[in-house]
Amino acid sequence: MNNDGENKILVTGASGQLGRRVVELLVESGASNVVATTRHPERLRDLGDRGVELRKADFDQGPAQLAAAFAGAKRMLLISTDAMDPGHRYEQQSRAIGAAVRAGVEHIAYTSLTHPVSDSPVLIAPDHAQTEQELEAIGVGYTALRNNLYADLLLISLPAAIGSGRLFAAAADGGAAYVTREDCARAAAAALASNFEGKRQLEITGPAVVTYAELAALASELSGKEVVYVPLDEEALIAGMVDNGLPEVVARLMASFDAGIRKGFFGPATDAVKDLSGTAPQSVRAFLEANKAALAQTP
Ligand SMILES: NC(=O)c1ccc[n+]([C@@H]2O[C@H](COP(=O)([O-])OP(=O)(O)OC[C@H]3O[C@@H](n4cnc5c(N)ncnc54)[C@H](OP(=O)(O)O)[C@@H]3O)[C@@H](O)[C@H]2O)c1
Repeated sequence: MNNDGENKILVTGASGQLGRRVVELLVESGASNVVATTRHPERLRDLGDRGVELRKADFDQGPAQLAAAFAGAKRMLLISTDAMDPGHRYEQQSRAIGAAVRAGVEHIAYTSLTHPVSDSPVLIAPDHAQTEQELEAIGVGYTALRNNLYADLLLISLPAAIGSGRLFAAAADGGAAYVTREDCARAAAAALASNFEGKRQLEITGPAVVTYAELAALASELSGKEVVYVPLDEEALIAGMVDNGLPEVVARLMASFDAGIRKGFFGPATDAVKDLSGTAPQSVRAFLEANKAALAQTP
């Protein structure tokens, strides 16, 4: 792949876990003229040494910094920020979209949320919905990469369940089409490298919907210790998380994901990862088997 002159491919949030991996994949595929923007360019010196142009960009800063950061880019991956206070994430991303369009970016791939519709119970859904609406309205081409829940998050929740023998959740019999962060990165890199110029929303999922009961069974099988799924209602789940030291705002956000799972917002599985990247996504079972050592670590 060769992207000469001003046809730069730009990745925002490049010192985050997803952003860094997308940049690495682009470099590994032979892309030149890759620009990585981040609040922390000093964390990406190794990528700078591999020919990536490092620029500072903070979506909380004014338009001048973002204009300089995005100059010359034709295709851009806008990585959603991690702001949790309602509206802040959209405000940051809207600023970035405005600056990108003024800088001449022609296609924006955006890491959205699965089914970010108005009746989604997920507390961050409105910020993603507004961002997608802005992309639709503003006149550039875009790819909404609606990433399902990272399978990687199970390496945080399942070790605790293995330790206690109980997997608590407020999702009833619902399931999610968990997708690995690596597969999200592969899909994003492919979307950036493609020539697609229109507008599209893609549900980025793993190969199947997996319920909490199935996760408990997998955790039992892989650890050799019995783990049972304990369905709770949302308020009981939140109270338990807060008792365990989680800030209430985080507990409420996490419980809202379970509500989304319960109501079917995190399925069905799609072929989008394979269609974009040419390789099928990894299953939850294969991912957990490959990370058995991390699963065994009691938090
Ligand atoms: N699908 C899921 O299950 C799931 C799970 C967690 C998060 N997410 C979302 O997906 C995104 C990427 O995931 P990740 O695993 O890479 O998360 P991460 O490692 O926590 O990275 C956080 C990201 O937010 C960016 N960011 C934060 N504040 C910013 C600001 N003021 N201006 C510009 N960028 C800002 C960071 O960029 P720099 O530090 O480089 O500036 C970084 O890319 C997250 O930010 C979040 O929106 C999805």
